[in-house]
Amino acid sequence: MQLDDLYREVIMDHYQHPRNQGKLDGDAVSVDLRNPSCGDEITLQLRVSEDGIVEDVVFQGSGCSISMASASMMTEAIKGQPVDKALEIAKEFRGMVRGESPEDVDIGELEALHGVSKFPARIKCATLAWQALEKAVRHEEE
Ligand code: FES
Repeated sequence: MQLDDLYREVIMDHYQHPRNQGKLDGDAVSVDLRNPSCGDEITLQLRVSEDGIVEDVVFQGSGCSISMASASMMTEAIKGQPVDKALEIAKEFRGMVRGESPEDVDIGELEALHGVSKFPARIKCATLAWQALEKAVRHEEE
């Protein structure tokens, strides 16, 4: 199997079977974001422990396969991580899809979305959930 085929399978698997989709009760920070270029939306909820660990993160929304797969993969990548590490992964991921040189942070299967860098119109799709994450963290820190 070619690497691109494998990446495509990973993306479709997350799109068809999204991880951590749902709603959190209680004190989670909630962020709604819309991709202005298509109108697709995401709601991200984040719960961070007192010692700065991402305890839980879920999302809901509607969007293309890239946006939903990216959100699903993001939740898996950051759950259980310190917030600082989650932001580091976010920075690395954004750099990768923009075609910038990576810092060499291990982003695991998120690598599957690296091909987005060849399609500038899709960068907003891939980064929607990540923008929501960064906004949620800022809110958390206020
Ligand atoms: Fe709307 Fe991708 S086309 S998020």
